[in-house]
Amino acid sequence: MKTKEKLLTLFEKNKGIYFSGEEIAEKLSVSRTAVWKAVNSLRKEGYKIHAVQNKGYCLAADTDILSVQGIQKYLESACSQIKLTVLPAAASTNALLREEAAAGAPEGCVLIAGSQTNGRGRTGRSFYSPPDTGLYMSLLLRPSRCPAQKAKKYTVMAAVAACHAIESLSDKKPLIKWVNDIYMDGKKVSGILTEASVGLEDGFLDYVILGIGINVYSPRGGFPDELKDRAGAVFSEAIDDGKNRLAAAFLNCFMALCQSPENHFYKEDYRKRSFLIGKEILVLLPEGTKKASALDVDEDCRLIVRYEDGTIAALDSGEVRVQERKHLHTQPE
Ligand code: BTN
Repeated sequence: MKTKEKLLTLFEKNKGIYFSGEEIAEKLSVSRTAVWKAVNSLRKEGYKIHAVQNKGYCLAADTDILSVQGIQKYLESACSQIKLTVLPAAASTNALLREEAAAGAPEGCVLIAGSQTNGRGRTGRSFYSPPDTGLYMSLLLRPSRCPAQKAKKYTVMAAVAACHAIESLSDKKPLIKWVNDIYMDGKKVSGILTEASVGLEDGFLDYVILGIGINVYSPRGGFPDELKDRAGAVFSEAIDDGKNRLAAAFLNCFMALCQSPENHFYKEDYRKRSFLIGKEILVLLPEGTKKASALDVDEDCRLIVRYEDGTIAALDSGEVRVQERKHLHTQPE
């Protein structure tokens, strides 16, 4: 490990605590010059490091830069297989991890970026991924003998894990807009894109890339015009170590769910958090858009809808939108 990385580990574990240059040099078994260089190099990366005479150096408590060290200190035993890489920026963490998966990277590789220039969303859309305010993360899974049609469970688990992670750090209750969007106060704060490679011979999953983007804070200057009515952020003001803690809380919960797949409570949780049940929606089908009422989410996490002609359907995947201002259960005026 480089001196800079060792120093960041020490600082992240002891935020707000001062260490003299001599103490740091001794702890890291390096020279004082090396400490000084590492401090400067971290500062160049944006870390706020206080230096006070007779006290030494300390990482400011309000520093919130995504890093391996910043996330690792919050990870629990369910994440023991996780191998984290944090990049300041990437084109798309899903695309990059996919390349690594194709080259044989093992299960548990997690790629996180501070921003994306080509963030991918579902159905070919892009995912707005500005710097400093979001969390863009992809996780590689290699399930054993898992039929391709079961891949949806990872999206469902990720949506539930994202809600639990947010709840562990805020007093808000996030909801899930089927299939894979997280909503708070009526706005989308997170989206999930699950991509997979399937063996042609046996139809089993070769690997799964679980990608999640979370708007942790609102971007500086706000969301672009085309998103501002629909996109929101998890926190309205800075919380201590918000991005690193949210990343770790998601991984802790998601990995715990993956490790006990026989525990189906997450499906009920998914249903209870539905943003759609009771709403009038539009179902976007290949043959055109159809109006429907969202009735329920069943035990297989399918959306149960009733179309205008009275037909009931169970949707396994797809795209739906909420119709503007029309609810099934309106209060009498
Ligand atoms: C959607 O809302 O349609 C899904 C958005 C998924 C975005 C995440 S950000 C991390 C990962 N890398 C990508 O390019 N996309 C996913």
